[in-house]
Amino acid sequence: MAFTLTINGKSHVIDADEGTPLLYVLRDELGLNGAKYGCGVGQCGACTVLRDGAPLRSCFVPAGSLREQSITTLEGMRALDGALHPLQSAFLEEQAGQCAYCIPGMIMAAAGLLRQKPNPSEAEIRTALDANLCRCGSHNRIVRAVKRAAEAMAR
Ligand code: FES
Repeated sequence: MAFTLTINGKSHVIDADEGTPLLYVLRDELGLNGAKYGCGVGQCGACTVLRDGAPLRSCFVPAGSLREQSITTLEGMRALDGALHPLQSAFLEEQAGQCAYCIPGMIMAAAGLLRQKPNPSEAEIRTALDANLCRCGSHNRIVRAVKRAAEAMAR
């Protein structure tokens, strides 16, 4: 049965089983490919989106359970004029992506952190991103990018 989700500020009628994981709905039904499939069991963070501003692993959450909530994906991070979000700019400036598969999830987890804590310490950034895995070992550049974005957002 169809249900409605609010994604990136727009209402979408979803014609899928309510138990379908949100990640599948985003990628397969809506063509929003920012969130990635990594492990599929909530362990890697590649699929992270925001639910009402807080990070959510979209790979195992039934989409039908999110009706009353606001979902933000990487695609929704840009400004209305198309400008990159400061996190997206900072990740590019710090060259934080190597293979970059983890980067969308990193950016969304960082966005959740900066919403809660606009000026996090390095330790707080590391703790917030600890469960988002990067197999290339780009962690130091990722942490620098989050710090850089926080500084840019404070100006
Ligand atoms: Fe969702 Fe790994 S794909 S946490």
